[in-house]
Amino acid sequence: MNKCAVYPGTFDPITNGHLDIVVRAAKLFSKIIVAVGENPEKTPLFTHNERFELVKRAISELKLPNVSVGQFTGLLAQYAQDIGAIAIIRGLRAVSDFEHEFQMALANRKLFPDAETVFLMPSEQFVYLNSSMVKVIARNNGDISPFVPACVERALFEKLGGKR
Ligand code: PNS
Repeated sequence: MNKCAVYPGTFDPITNGHLDIVVRAAKLFSKIIVAVGENPEKTPLFTHNERFELVKRAISELKLPNVSVGQFTGLLAQYAQDIGAIAIIRGLRAVSDFEHEFQMALANRKLFPDAETVFLMPSEQFVYLNSSMVKVIARNNGDISPFVPACVERALFEKLGGKR
């Protein structure tokens, strides 16, 4: 049976924590689509297309044959249905993530009951890591190399060029 899962996110930008989740998910499902979407609650630093290109580059470096990259606008549940996903993967780092994730999982279940939301925990070294923190460190000339792939480090450097 073809078990396809979608791993959606804003990925502004993709971090090593996201990649850790992709590697874990790729072991559980026959196909993973990492899908770049829009979070209405966030104003991203990178455009949708820039985020998509960075995710494609970072994922290609993992060399996982069952992982590909997509993008969507509008509802995640609709996209999951369109690509035939049986699961929505979300990373869960801390209790503080839970309430929002719980709400989203239940809303997505209502909209598309055939897909289960599956929560995966990243490696402990990434538990505190998120894209916002990476952007703050980069804006303040900190070293982000432990947190993001080299292509993202370069892209952040270029994007924030004037401010660094
Ligand atoms: O990386 P993020 O910001 O936590 O990802 C959130 C994302 C993009 C997966 C979420 O905001 C999303 O699914 N956006 C599309 C709109 C939608 O379907 N929202 C959930 C139902 S209200």
